[in-house]
Amino acid sequence: MTIKTKITELFGIEHPIIQGGMHFVGYAEMAAAVSNAGGLGIITALTQRTPDDLAREIARCREMTDKPFGVNLTFLPVVEAPDYAGYVRAIVEGGVKIVETAGNNPQKWLPGLHEAGIKVIHKCTSVRHALKAESIGCDAISVDGFECGGHPGEDDVPNFILLPRAAEELKIPFVASGGMADGRSLVAALALGADGMNMGTRFIATKEAPVHENVKQAILAASELDTRLVMRPLRNTERVLKNAAVERVIAKEKELGGNISFADIAPEVAGVYPKIMREGQMDAGAWSCGMVAGLVHDIPSVQELVTRIVAEAESLIASRLAAYVRP
Ligand SMILES: Cc1cc2nc3c(=O)[nH]c(=O)nc-3n(C[C@H](O)[C@H](O)[C@H](O)COP(=O)(O)O)c2cc1C
Repeated sequence: MTIKTKITELFGIEHPIIQGGMHFVGYAEMAAAVSNAGGLGIITALTQRTPDDLAREIARCREMTDKPFGVNLTFLPVVEAPDYAGYVRAIVEGGVKIVETAGNNPQKWLPGLHEAGIKVIHKCTSVRHALKAESIGCDAISVDGFECGGHPGEDDVPNFILLPRAAEELKIPFVASGGMADGRSLVAALALGADGMNMGTRFIATKEAPVHENVKQAILAASELDTRLVMRPLRNTERVLKNAAVERVIAKEKELGGNISFADIAPEVAGVYPKIMREGQMDAGAWSCGMVAGLVHDIPSVQELVTRIVAEAESLIASRLAAYVRP
């Protein structure tokens, strides 16, 4: 038995479970592990310093899996944009068939991606952005609720409302993202109208996640009360795990109010990922983490995690939920 949806069909994958792009986590090892387990693994383009590095990472991933995998393209709110054209070229020439876009409207890149036969799933945090993405021709949406690790947007609508709202409005398939951890999440996502789920934080706490052990232990130790929102005054809100650096950012935000600029918090947020993810310096800066950390209690292999999620979801649907229905 397995769970088939429009998302498994669209991407040619076994289970409707996606691993979202994650800075300094979404390497070939992570993506291949998820794809080999029957989900959709995603390499994070901007973690690769250059388009050539991304091309090599794609080739490396292909050596580790013959299943479909994707690449995340995050459009950052920065003055000097990365070489997006180069990254897109690496994706197309690398034969990747699925791209997750996020951060901003991907319209400029859609024709080139679609011409190459690439399916685009756009991740966004509001119904209005999801509808925009549908109108410009995206193939699917990842609906990222307020719970999510990373950038939840500025509307603060949790998935219990956001997902059914998306279901009311969207014609293209979508997955639930943010706060997803287990079979219960998958069944809830399906019940609320989604065709699958996307996970970030949960996938970091796995054996194969190519990050320092301290990161996995920090997620394991964290409860649902341990994330904080930073950079709201800059309208670039990020949900992060609380630590000494995050406390400093929050103190500066309180002190400077509306006068704060990126430069004020750069020591805590700019270029900190390698120190955290590679070196395990857990107080080196602010790093994305979802409230779902409160539901993470072990560090299984990706295969164990995916198998467990699917088995739990199937049993929930076929036994627990079915038993509520009486003739
Ligand atoms: C450490 C970390 C880094 C992330 N980096 C990115 C990124 O570079 N681009 C992106 O689109 N999303 C990024 N995300 C968001 C995830 O892809 C996903 O949408 C989010 O984690 C879902 O929420 P969850 O953590 O509750 O599962 C990141 C999340 C985490 C936890």
